[in-house]
Amino acid sequence: MKRERLDKVLANMGIGTRKEVKQLVKQKLVVVDGTVATDPGMHVVPEEQEISVDGEPINYKRWLYIMLNKPPGVVSATEDNLHETVVDLLPYEWAIKVFPVGRLDIDTEGLLLLTNDGQLSHNLLSPKKKVDKEYFARIQGRVTETHVQEFARGVELEDFTTLPAKLEVLSSGEISEIRVTIMEGKFHQVKRMFAAFDLEVIYLQRIRMGPIRLDESLKPGEYRELTDEEMEFLKAYTQKEGPAQS
Ligand code: URA
Repeated sequence: MKRERLDKVLANMGIGTRKEVKQLVKQKLVVVDGTVATDPGMHVVPEEQEISVDGEPINYKRWLYIMLNKPPGVVSATEDNLHETVVDLLPYEWAIKVFPVGRLDIDTEGLLLLTNDGQLSHNLLSPKKKVDKEYFARIQGRVTETHVQEFARGVELEDFTTLPAKLEVLSSGEISEIRVTIMEGKFHQVKRMFAAFDLEVIYLQRIRMGPIRLDESLKPGEYRELTDEEMEFLKAYTQKEGPAQS
C-alpha cells in the first residue's frame, strides 16, 4: 500500500485545500490511529490507518467506480465552458477525482461510468477489447428486418465500416423503437448508422457497457458506486483478450 502525505490524502478527499488541511492539523483536529497529528506532512497509509477529522472518521478509497444515469443536456467531460458536465452532478469529493469512461453525446442519456482508474478506463475503451455497448433508441421512421440484416453485416459509414451490430426491432412504425449493440465507440456512431439508411435517432439511451447494466432504479442525474459484484464482472471482463462476450 502506498504511503502518502497526510495533507495530500485529506485534500484529495475534499476535506479542504492543502492550506486548509494544514490549519486543521494546527488546530489539533486531525487524529491518526488515536494520536493527534502534529505534522501535515507525516506519511500515512490511508487504507490501513484510522484517520479522523474533528471527530469524524474518514472513509478513504483510492479507487472510485461510479455508475451515472446521464441526463440530457450535460456533457461527458470534466470541464466545459458552456455546459454543465457529468462530474458537476457528483459530490465534490468524487468530482475532483474522477473522469468519464468515454463519451455520450450531450443529448444521449443512460449509463456512463466514471472512475479515477486509468487502466480500467483504457481497457474498456480499447478497440482491441471490443467491449459491447447496448442502446435503446427511438427512431423517426420505419425500422425493418432489412435494417437488422444490414446492421448484422456491418454498416458502411463515410470513414469506416462498422463491425457487425445486433439490431432488435421492438416496434416498427412512423416512430420505431429498437435495441442495438455495437462493438466500437466512434463519434455519433449509432446516429450515423441509422442516418446511413435515412433514419433519424430521436432518443438515445445507453443501457449496457460490457457486463455493466444501467441500474433502472437510478433516475436521470442519479448515480451510485459499482457494487463488489459489478466490480468483479468488470475486472474479469476487461482482463480477457480479444472479443468480449456479453
Ligand atoms: N452513438 C451516438 O450516436 N451517440 C452516443 O452518444 C453514443 C453512441
